[in-house]
Amino acid sequence: MSCFNQKNQYNILTLFFILTLWTSLVISSRLLEKHEQWMEEHGKFYKDAAEKEQRFQIFKENLEFIESFNAAGDNGFNLSINQFGDQTNDEFKANYLNGKKKPLIGVGIAAIEEESVFRYENVTEVPATMDWRERGAVTPIKHQHLCGSCWAFATVAAIEGIHQITTGRLVSLSEQELVDCVKTNTTDGCNGGYVEDACDFIVKKGGITSETNYPYTRVDGKCNVRKGTYNVAKIKGYEHVPANNEKALLKAVANQPIAVYIAATKRAFQFYSSGILKGKCGIDLDHTVTIVGYGTSDDGVKYWLVKNSWGTKWGEKGYIKIKRDVHAKEGSCGIAMVPTYPIV
Ligand SMILES: *[C@@H]1O[C@H](CO)[C@@H](O)[C@H](O)[C@H]1NC(C)=O
Ligand SMILES: *[C@@H]1O[C@H](CO)[C@@H](O)[C@H](O)[C@H]1NC(C)=O
Ligand SMILES: *[C@@H]1O[C@H](CO)[C@@H](O)[C@H](O)[C@H]1NC(C)=O
Repeated sequence: MSCFNQKNQYNILTLFFILTLWTSLVISSRLLEKHEQWMEEHGKFYKDAAEKEQRFQIFKENLEFIESFNAAGDNGFNLSINQFGDQTNDEFKANYLNGKKKPLIGVGIAAIEEESVFRYENVTEVPATMDWRERGAVTPIKHQHLCGSCWAFATVAAIEGIHQITTGRLVSLSEQELVDCVKTNTTDGCNGGYVEDACDFIVKKGGITSETNYPYTRVDGKCNVRKGTYNVAKIKGYEHVPANNEKALLKAVANQPIAVYIAATKRAFQFYSSGILKGKCGIDLDHTVTIVGYGTSDDGVKYWLVKNSWGTKWGEKGYIKIKRDVHAKEGSCGIAMVPTYPIV
């Protein structure tokens, strides 16, 4: 005998259908509400309902990715929705990473191998942990906004560091001077560029001016020679840490903040919020950041402490920890491939 007669089955199906519909309505209204909250938090506006709907779909997809990533629970790091929440990964790459002027990996490494000078090669003692913020050599987190100027921010952070270490003065320096004035076949303002080109420019000009003298505008501008006149920090040039060598990189970071090219294309990087990022980024270098320390977590995972230029709402108040001493010789996200530091 069947447990249900025809009519009951029909009722159960109806009930099931209504429940399903209700659940999906509740979920989508919860998501719509989340999207509204997110828009408010990040000051987002859309030109019309169609754009809002399109952005909502991307937001929803990102949120699902983040929630399922976090639910897996064994990654050692968490993701969260942030200012990039309504952008597809391709849009994120195009808007924030070194799109047109990708670091030329082959050229970079060949150049490094030709160089003979690595001033920290004979360093034997390094502290177990280092945090240049605690030593007053790191300015607050900055924000490049919708401009591929990461290379200028990473260069400036490295120079701010060595300037403070050698003079005792922490001065916020000008990214905009670099964005406007460094023009080479590999560096072009908001279209991307190289730390090496920025350092060459600063050496030739005789220094770099302060953030106050030449503030960040978020867009490409005409080089303003007058604003750049007062050189606040000087460098003699730059050197590379031997490529693909995290031991050498450690010696360098123990002595000053180091600019590095990394692979930041993956969604795990786009939505990183806390913990120690490992794997999941490849070595397709397309972003530039500055290592400002290193350490070991309570559960024994070694990491690099990295300053990014995407504001304080991204990552750990603008910073990211990236796994250190990994099997791959390039380091996590290619962090050990082309490390560069200014010399004074
Ligand atoms: C490191 O030590 C070797 C051997 O003493 C020396 O030849 C080399 O110049 C030193 N390197 C630096 C950067 O001081
Ligand atoms: C960029 O210009 C320099 C000389 O100014 C040249 O040596 C180099 O080959 C050029 N690189 C590319 C990628 O065009
Ligand atoms: C990730 O989030 C969970 C839940 O909020 C939390 O318990 C855990 O400590 C977080 N892990 C990291 C590495 O931040």
